[in-house]
Amino acid sequence: MEGLKLPFLFSSLFSILIISNAVDIITKTQSVIGNNTIVSSGGSFEMGFFSPGNSRNTYLGIWYKKISVRTIVWVANREIPLVNSSGILTIIDRGILALVNGTGSVIWSPNVTGPVAQLMESGNLVVKDANNNILWQSFDYPCDTLLPGMKLGKNFVTGIERHLSSWKSSDDPARGKCTYLCDPQGYPQNILFSDSVEVFRTGPWNGLGFSGNPNLKPNSIYTYELVYTKEEVYYGYQLLGSVVSRVTLSQNGVAQRWTWVDRTQEWVIYLTAPTDTCDTYKMCGPNGNCNVANSPVCGCLSKFVPQNQTEWRSGDWSNGCVRRTTLDCHNGDGFLKYSHYKMPDTRYSWFDKSMTLRECEMWCLKNCSCMAYTSLDIRGGGSGCLLWFDELIDMRQYSDNGQDIYIRMASSELFQQEVGFNGKKREIVAVTLALLIGLLLLGVSLTCYLRKKKRKNSQLNREGNLVQNSKQGYTDKSQNDDLELPLFDLTEIANSTNNFSINNKLGEGGFGPVYKGMLEGGQEIAVKRLSKDSSQGLDEFKNEVICIAKLQHRNLVKLLGCCIQGEEKMLIYEYMPNKSLDYFIFDQTQSGLLVWPKRFHIINGIARGLLYLHQDSRLRIIHRDLKASNILLDIDMNPKISDFGMARSFRGNEIEANTKKVVGTYGYMSPEYAVDGLFSVKSDVFSFGVLVLEIVSGKKNRGFYHRDHHLNLLGHAWRLYKEDRSLELIDEALWDSCYLTEVLRSIHVGLLCVQQSPEDRPSMSSVVLMLGSEGGLPQAKQPGFFTERNVLEAAGSSSKVATASANEMTITLLNAR
Ligand SMILES: *[C@@H]1O[C@H](CO)[C@@H](O)[C@H](O)[C@H]1NC(C)=O
Ligand SMILES: *[C@@H]1O[C@H](CO)[C@@H](O)[C@H](O)[C@H]1NC(C)=O
Ligand SMILES: *[C@@H]1O[C@H](CO)[C@@H](O)[C@H](O)[C@H]1NC(C)=O
Ligand SMILES: *[C@@H]1O[C@H](CO)[C@@H](O)[C@H](O)[C@H]1NC(C)=O
Ligand SMILES: *[C@@H]1O[C@H](CO)[C@@H](O)[C@H](O)[C@H]1NC(C)=O
Ligand SMILES: *[C@@H]1O[C@H](CO)[C@@H](O)[C@H](O)[C@H]1NC(C)=O
Repeated sequence: MEGLKLPFLFSSLFSILIISNAVDIITKTQSVIGNNTIVSSGGSFEMGFFSPGNSRNTYLGIWYKKISVRTIVWVANREIPLVNSSGILTIIDRGILALVNGTGSVIWSPNVTGPVAQLMESGNLVVKDANNNILWQSFDYPCDTLLPGMKLGKNFVTGIERHLSSWKSSDDPARGKCTYLCDPQGYPQNILFSDSVEVFRTGPWNGLGFSGNPNLKPNSIYTYELVYTKEEVYYGYQLLGSVVSRVTLSQNGVAQRWTWVDRTQEWVIYLTAPTDTCDTYKMCGPNGNCNVANSPVCGCLSKFVPQNQTEWRSGDWSNGCVRRTTLDCHNGDGFLKYSHYKMPDTRYSWFDKSMTLRECEMWCLKNCSCMAYTSLDIRGGGSGCLLWFDELIDMRQYSDNGQDIYIRMASSELFQQEVGFNGKKREIVAVTLALLIGLLLLGVSLTCYLRKKKRKNSQLNREGNLVQNSKQGYTDKSQNDDLELPLFDLTEIANSTNNFSINNKLGEGGFGPVYKGMLEGGQEIAVKRLSKDSSQGLDEFKNEVICIAKLQHRNLVKLLGCCIQGEEKMLIYEYMPNKSLDYFIFDQTQSGLLVWPKRFHIINGIARGLLYLHQDSRLRIIHRDLKASNILLDIDMNPKISDFGMARSFRGNEIEANTKKVVGTYGYMSPEYAVDGLFSVKSDVFSFGVLVLEIVSGKKNRGFYHRDHHLNLLGHAWRLYKEDRSLELIDEALWDSCYLTEVLRSIHVGLLCVQQSPEDRPSMSSVVLMLGSEGGLPQAKQPGFFTERNVLEAAGSSSKVATASANEMTITLLNAR
């Protein structure tokens, strides 16, 4: 008898095992009970009973079958657990899927009549009718996990709204306090709530991603999308390969994306939101701007001021900011562009998919309550229109992510923007101006006359001079050769330079060698020794001495004194340990040392130095030979303009001069100067523009070569600018350090400086402001001398010119006019 029973028992056990492992459906005859589960056809997901954490309650749930760590992705009876009893999931009377407890009560049911329920390979539990139509699916009722293929959002036709809701605790899958949803109000964005209060917003969808979730980027693990049609709106994703990934919402309100790492057999966090303080909803109040790079993180948007200074200063930012200048819609407002921002809350917005940005602007301008606009979809240069009414809420600024937004501004603010002022920058400019004026006064009081003086009491004793001059009640005399400057003794200079030893030679300037020396006190000096056969005659020498002795600016090299003895003429400068700019930017190994912030600092320094020469020093001075090798760098890499041998001073309101002797360096000379010998401050501006483009690109204008065309650096930069490809101009050595807005701005300013016509070039004061502001810049036109060929033709056709131009030396041309 036993022999008969046993095989029967075995075979029935066997058949149960087969069924339980192979079946993915629940029917009248196939249920989930006890340890019995159903498994999706491909074996990815399993459904059965489980008890979370330390809980003794039992829940019906779905988890990954192939993953060693039990990971629940969905719970059926999350609110009503099975207590102390086992349950059964089966099809009860009238064909209804139901979870029934030990005493026969229905604990949970989808409440639809369908003969079959199936666990799909996606992890979706579906109830189908006889014709295989889906009547109900678990994907419509997410818990805390968003699986691939699930939709986070709303179906406007059926009214179903799908969102994530956190568990109460790791022991209790009941609905917790946090929810994460895709809100279509205004324009779709994902919002995370805790206890119905906004915690985090991704910012609106822009065609590629969310402006406030820059970490969500195309990757090799999954694709993501936001679908927004008349019928539905949802955010969802699909896996690309075999890597398993899911999104969850934690009990404490953090949305996390996880990926399963097979090798270590654990889930690792791939992305998290919110990520930092600035992700906190409305952190800085209306019209506030959060920037994690600042401390404190909260500020007002540019041209806005705190609504209540007292509160703001005490760190209470909740009331945010208001416009510095109130709007005046009927007398004409305009818009200012703000770059790299997370777009404000779109629940107070309006959109149109077909408008262009221009139409968008017009539309916004017409409606006085429209506060800002931007492109709806940033793909392909931007399309559509997104408008905000009321205050701009929950904005933050990134260093290089984020989007552009155009904010409504009173027209007076727009005007200031054009000349380049802007909020904080305004103060900086004011400070700079004050500083310049200070330096100027210092320079004036130092103006002195050249006279023989004992080295002892004259050497480097500038403060002494100052005192002395004021004692004498010295007033500024008209510019002449009168100048007091420490006069060095030839033997002392010879000693300090090891008798002009070749080992001390720093280089060869336009008019003679430059030596490094060390005075007895240990001070390092640079000695420019005028060669006897140099073309810099006594005039030029005196010129330089007079010029530079009167100039005091931190971006100009400092003249310590001079030495005139017999045939010898020498200038003694402060020593610049870091040589000159060309030594860095044009050298492959050195260029890496000059990161972008340094370069931008240098560009600004040169600009300020030039501004001082052109405008702020009492003598208006045109340098005429601005080039990379004439920009010296001090120990902190501060730029100092040097070599004033060619400088010309202007008097009164003289704005342009003519010279028969064209001096300068090819590649840096403006067309009107090289061709007609006309020079003005604008010829320096041209050289400055060349210099800026060289600093950004790391390439020399002269001898620039590109395999695609015969343009020089200026032409190349112009071409890229026209095609919106200015990024390609940037020196590779800068890629890691560059702040794109600044770089692009510098290129733009550089191009404006090298315009063909002097009138089109900005003055140095505009340049300084342009570099420091965020305002719009005029379009650049085609630059002067943008092909190499042009230069030679323009500069005259003699073969002498062609050979002279082959090197980087300062040249002198007798004008052919
Ligand atoms: C179910 O599994 C648990 C733990 O693995 C075990 O203790 C129990 O005996 C099993 N019950 C049935 C009915 O197989
Ligand atoms: C659960 O079962 C235990 C032991 O069988 C019993 O002591 C307890 O009262 C039951 N709890 C409930 C809520 O039924
Ligand atoms: C089954 O559920 C009903 C209703 O919730 C409840 O009254 C009953 O006690 C439950 N039975 C068991 C064994 O838990
Ligand atoms: C099914 O219907 C019952 C009673 O109307 C309701 O309490 C329950 O929440 C419904 N279940 C689902 C999953 O909608
Ligand atoms: C600013 O805030 C402080 C503190 O909340 C309040 O006492 C004060 O009246 C406010 N000032 C204005 C101008 O609203
Ligand atoms: C401006 O836009 C708002 C929001 O769309 C609308 O309610 C209001 O009527 C508009 N005003 C005008 C003058 O068009």
